[in-house]
Amino acid sequence: MSLTRKDEHINLAQKQKNKSNYFDNILLESDDLPNLSIDDIDLSSTFLGYDIPYPFYINGMTGGSQKALEINDFLSKIANHYHIPMMSGSQSIMFKDPSSIKSFEIIRKNHKGIVISNINPNMTLEMAMQSIEAMQSNALAIHLNVIQELVMKEGDRDFRKWEDNIKYIHSNLNIPVIIKQVGAGFSNKSINKLVNIGIKHIDVSGSGGTSFIDIESSRGNSDYNFLKGFEIDTANILLNLKKYEGVNFYASGGIRNPMDVIKSLVLGANACGLSKWFLDLTQLTFEEALKKVDQFITDLKKIMIILGVSKVSELSRVPYTLI
Ligand SMILES: Cc1cc2nc3c(=O)[nH]c(=O)nc-3n(C[C@H](O)[C@H](O)[C@H](O)COP(=O)(O)O)c2cc1C
Repeated sequence: MSLTRKDEHINLAQKQKNKSNYFDNILLESDDLPNLSIDDIDLSSTFLGYDIPYPFYINGMTGGSQKALEINDFLSKIANHYHIPMMSGSQSIMFKDPSSIKSFEIIRKNHKGIVISNINPNMTLEMAMQSIEAMQSNALAIHLNVIQELVMKEGDRDFRKWEDNIKYIHSNLNIPVIIKQVGAGFSNKSINKLVNIGIKHIDVSGSGGTSFIDIESSRGNSDYNFLKGFEIDTANILLNLKKYEGVNFYASGGIRNPMDVIKSLVLGANACGLSKWFLDLTQLTFEEALKKVDQFITDLKKIMIILGVSKVSELSRVPYTLI
C-alpha cells in the first residue's frame, strides 16, 4: 500500500480549521423548569432502520493506505466501544489495489456493531457486493461528489451512469442503502431526484465543515473558490428540507460540537455524521479519545436538560429562532 490521494485528503483535512457556519444562526428555546434529571435523558435514535444508542455516527473517510488502515483501526475500536455506527471511506481502491482490502477489513475485525460500506456511483452491483462482503456490512453508502470530481485533475467527467447504477444497486440489495454528499450539500433538486428513484436514507452532508473544493484546490494547486457558491450549508439544507413520507434524513458537514448535533435533530435529522471531529481524535491516545467522546455524550445530555426534553424524538418540537 502506498501514499495515496486518500492520504493527501487526510493531511489537508486535518489542516482545515473549524469555522463558523449556519448552525450559529439558530437559537433554541431553553427551559428553566425542565423537571428532568440527567438520568432521564435517553439519547437513542435510529440510523438506516437500526436502533442506535446515541444520535451520531462516524462518517465515511478513509481506507486504502497504511495510514488509512491505522485510522480505521483506531476509529473502529472507538465505534465498538460506544456501539456507534461506522462508515468506511470509499472502497473503490480495493478494485485497483487488492492489498488495500486489509484497511477495510480491520473495521469489521474491531467493530461488532453497525458497519457501512461506501462506494462511488460508477460501481457495478457485483463491486458493491464485494465491498459489502469485505466488512460484512449492515448497509451501503453511495457518495455523490460531482463538484469534487470536476475539481480533481484526475476526477470523473462523465456522469451518465450514476442515476441508473444507483437505482439498480438499490433495488438489488437486501440491506439499507444511504446516499450521501461529501460536504457540499444536496440541493432540493438532488434530494427530489433521489426520492423519486426510491431512496429512503439521505445524508445531506452540507458545507460548514470539511470542504473538498479547498482540499482539491490545494492538491491541484488551482483555485476553485468560485465554485463555493454551489456549497449549501448543512443547517440551511435542514431548514428548507421538504418532508417526504418514509424518507429519513441524516445531517453531516460541519457538525463541530454537541450543540450542532442537537440543532440538527431539532431541524428534523434522525442522526448526525461526524468526520472531521473523529479525524481529530486520531491525534490523541485511545484513552484521551474515549474521554472526549464521553464528554461529548454528557454534553448532549446537558443540552437536552436545558431544552427540557428527555427523548430525541421530542426534539423536533423545540422552538427555535434564526438570527
Ligand atoms: C479525510 C476525509 C476523507 C473523506 N473521504 C470520503 C470518502 O471516501 N467517501 C465519502 O463518502 N465521504 C468522504 N468524506 C466526506 C465525509 O464523509 C463528510 O461528508 C464531509 O467530510 C463533511 O463532514 P465533516 O465536516 O464532519 O468533515 C471524507 C472526509 C474527510 C475529512
